[in-house]
Amino acid sequence: MKTRITELFGIQHPIIQGGMHFVGLAELAAAVSNAGGLGLITGLTQRTPDDLAKEISRCRTMTDKPFGVNLTFLPSVTPPDYPGYVQAIIDGGVKIVETAGNNPARWMPMLKEAGIKVIHKCTSVRHSLKAESIGCDAVSVDGFECGGHPGEDDVPNFILLPRAAEELKIPFVASGGMADARSLVGALALGAEGMNMGTRFMATVEAPIHDNVKQAIVAASELDTRLVMRSLRNTERVLVNAGVERLLKKEKTLGAALKFEDIIGEVAGVYPAVMQKGEMDAGAWSCGMVAGLIHDVPTCAQLIDRIMSEATQIIRGRLEGMLAD
Ligand SMILES: Cc1cc2nc3c(=O)[nH]c(=O)nc-3n(C[C@H](O)[C@H](O)[C@H](O)COP(=O)(O)O)c2cc1C
Repeated sequence: MKTRITELFGIQHPIIQGGMHFVGLAELAAAVSNAGGLGLITGLTQRTPDDLAKEISRCRTMTDKPFGVNLTFLPSVTPPDYPGYVQAIIDGGVKIVETAGNNPARWMPMLKEAGIKVIHKCTSVRHSLKAESIGCDAVSVDGFECGGHPGEDDVPNFILLPRAAEELKIPFVASGGMADARSLVGALALGAEGMNMGTRFMATVEAPIHDNVKQAIVAASELDTRLVMRSLRNTERVLVNAGVERLLKKEKTLGAALKFEDIIGEVAGVYPAVMQKGEMDAGAWSCGMVAGLIHDVPTCAQLIDRIMSEATQIIRGRLEGMLAD
């Protein structure tokens, strides 16, 4: 399939694996890229810029296809060493960066000077337009369904994607709720030029996470996610578990008085406990509603090949067959 996204990134299929904390390691990024999609290493999961440099080198030993790095800009009192991470990306010869969180304007000159293509992930049309205006090459439009941080506007992809298509000149991919060929064809119909998947790629053979997590996603339905930290304006969609129930109870009891410190036990240090040790009730970890559409744990190549062949069947068979002569 050829779209503005496959052309922009030099990839075979318009499928991107979004940055995921403690999931987006070299193994997964390389597997997605080897399967013809675009794999992303999650920058901040690497404790230091030096560790990121090593992870980029490790990924290079596993694939000769293009891959990228996700850089998430979080509001923080003591921010990570962002200049160091950006330098590690440039020095590592990575040519694609997915930015997320805060506006990446400050980093654009450095990234552009190094010939890096930037795709910014955002949850609204206004942020997408901002990304376009500061020189981003593409946008990942993340609907309310998404795993992780859906923002505070709560606009689902059936509205958000065609709205983005009405306004944007740069190409965009659909993110949030994407799982299979139906998602891809639907996203293309709504104006996107590809799709970005998070949760779906967690339930793959190569995702370097505990099997308990993959099985929890397969077992979950579309009703099993919850929104947490809404009152802190840091809303996150997570898979429900005992830790999340505890967090929600605190949110209900404390109401507007809730502070981050009140829930630190349910949100801090959760990712290594869940992803590496498989402690499923440790606390809040991101997961999309799309879990309801995930029923197996294929390899990345099986998943991507299946999506692309079924997409062809949907377009050539089902859709074309509906057109009256
Ligand atoms: C476990 C997990 C961790 C994530 N961590 C990050 C992150 O560190 N940075 C980021 O930009 N997005 C992160 N995301 C969001 C994904 O990149 C992607 O936008 C989202 O999962 C899309 O929605 P979906 O899960 O419905 O496919 C994370 C998602 C999940 C499921």
